[in-house]
Amino acid sequence: MKTAFASLAVLPFTLAAVHQIAVGGDNIFAFNPNNIVADVGDVLSFQFNVKNHTATQSSFASPCTKLLGADNLTPVGFNSGFNPVAPGSLDLPVFNVTVNDSKPIWVYCAQKNPFSHCAEKGMVFAANAPTTGNTFQAFLNNALASGNSTNATSTTTTTSATAAWTSPPAPEIVTVTATVTEGDNTYLTTYASWEGSAAPTAAPQPVNHVIVVGGSAGLVFTPSNITASINDTVTFQFESKNHTATQSSFSNPCTELAKTSSTGQVGFDSGFMPVGVNDTNFPSLTITVNDTAPIWGYCRQTNPTSHCGSGMVFSINAVEDSPNNFAAFQGLAIHNFGSSASTTSSGSASSPSSSDSGKKSGAIRASVGSVSVFVGVVAVVFGMML
Ligand SMILES: *[C@@H]1O[C@H](CO)[C@@H](O)[C@H](O)[C@H]1NC(C)=O
Ligand SMILES: *[C@@H]1O[C@H](CO)[C@@H](O)[C@H](O)[C@H]1NC(C)=O
Ligand SMILES: *[C@@H]1O[C@H](CO)[C@@H](O)[C@H](O)[C@H]1NC(C)=O
Ligand SMILES: *[C@@H]1O[C@H](CO)[C@@H](O)[C@H](O)[C@H]1NC(C)=O
Ligand SMILES: *[C@@H]1O[C@H](CO)[C@@H](O)[C@H](O)[C@H]1NC(C)=O
Ligand SMILES: *[C@@H]1O[C@H](CO)[C@@H](O)[C@H](O)[C@H]1NC(C)=O
Ligand SMILES: *[C@@H]1O[C@H](CO)[C@@H](O)[C@H](O)[C@H]1NC(C)=O
Ligand SMILES: *[C@@H]1O[C@H](CO)[C@@H](O)[C@H](O)[C@H]1NC(C)=O
Ligand SMILES: *[C@@H]1O[C@H](CO)[C@@H](O)[C@H](O)[C@H]1NC(C)=O
Ligand SMILES: *[C@@H]1O[C@H](CO)[C@@H](O)[C@H](O)[C@H]1NC(C)=O
Repeated sequence: MKTAFASLAVLPFTLAAVHQIAVGGDNIFAFNPNNIVADVGDVLSFQFNVKNHTATQSSFASPCTKLLGADNLTPVGFNSGFNPVAPGSLDLPVFNVTVNDSKPIWVYCAQKNPFSHCAEKGMVFAANAPTTGNTFQAFLNNALASGNSTNATSTTTTTSATAAWTSPPAPEIVTVTATVTEGDNTYLTTYASWEGSAAPTAAPQPVNHVIVVGGSAGLVFTPSNITASINDTVTFQFESKNHTATQSSFSNPCTELAKTSSTGQVGFDSGFMPVGVNDTNFPSLTITVNDTAPIWGYCRQTNPTSHCGSGMVFSINAVEDSPNNFAAFQGLAIHNFGSSASTTSSGSASSPSSSDSGKKSGAIRASVGSVSVFVGVVAVVFGMML
């Protein structure tokens, strides 16, 4: 029985760890982190933030309902029950669960008022999810699909139960030439963008968008997914711990753009911004949005775990109704660099430079570490007066 350890590549001598998992928060419908590897004997310590959430065990096939026993009637999994937390409360309830074996543990928030946190927001969590087949991403997809008509659930659960992660395609880069009017001036601009990108628009007055890095929300950028006009600025405000705001690319969410770009594009990087617990003067980094091409980024901190791998990523001007939207980017970050990365490298070189040379036709499913590298070309030519 103890051989089950081998599949997780865990040394039997490891001390039991306590995994802190933040549940919800103001306008946050997520477990953070939401996909972890835990050893037998470890403790999953769910900490409930404001609002009224649960940590309830479910199954891979039915993410948003309680885990049932063999009779298909009796709930057999753990369930924290509802944990209402008033705004501003410092007394955050904790629900501990011990990991008893190496099987995957699937969890959701059972709050349905005024909407289902699980089916509509994908508020789910997994410990020891397989990295192929019944992956965390497939579980999350199942949860979101269950928000569709109950008519569809039987088909979606059976198909997605065996569906492996499919890497979204790298964006198609197109060159766009367009005129932009600002005040009395008209400019001809040429830039590299992505199919489906919004037309370039200059805000009448450039706006500054603030993205909070860390802070009470935990390992997240808040908001993590914004749209900004040309010449707008974005200020990353570092409010806790020791994070970075670092530009990456869609295909390599957790690698500095400088390391994957073959055009010499460097991208911005705030460097580590340590913030003391009582600091009120927060350090910040401000960048300027020069075109409508999506900007992707992440937090570089890997101590003690990869923040990017737990989904601490952001996007600016991601094209929501394309395969390359923010959710796909975050999914890729978690999938490729999440808790699985350190324990289950199946011998494949995972250095960022190991790009696939040439497309293999018919290779639809990408395995871990074989994401093709795309080149983020951003060229902006402003000032050509008409
Ligand atoms: C928490 O949510 C549950 C389920 O919606 C509800 O029954 C309960 O009254 C809520 N508690 C508070 C304090 O809002
Ligand atoms: C949860 O587990 C942690 C670590 O063992 C412990 O410090 C804490 O008191 C526990 N909390 C509850 C409510 O059991
Ligand atoms: C592990 O066993 C304890 C004691 O039976 C139980 O309370 C807990 O829910 C179990 N953990 C899981 C993940 O099922
Ligand atoms: C319903 O299913 C479609 C695809 O079948 C999916 O795109 C959509 O996000 C789902 N909606 C919800 C609320 O889960
Ligand atoms: C689901 O089934 C109900 C009743 O059969 C039907 O009214 C509804 O339109 C169906 N929904 C979808 C999305 O097919
Ligand atoms: C953006 O700002 C620069 C510098 O102020 C200005 O020269 C340029 O015309 C602006 N471009 C647009 C499209 O607003
Ligand atoms: C911040 O994190 C980096 C990378 O882990 C580390 O090198 C640095 O010492 C940390 N700084 C502080 C003040 O903790
Ligand atoms: C932060 O402030 C609290 C309350 O004033 C104090 O008890 C604590 O020691 C301070 N912590 C640090 C690291 O300065
Ligand atoms: C926008 O252009 C300026 C000046 O060339 C550059 O410093 C900045 O990094 C660019 N912003 C982005 C997001 O690339
Ligand atoms: C990203 O932002 C768009 C536009 O605000 C929104 O529709 C979408 O739901 C967001 N996606 C995620 C995953 O937060």
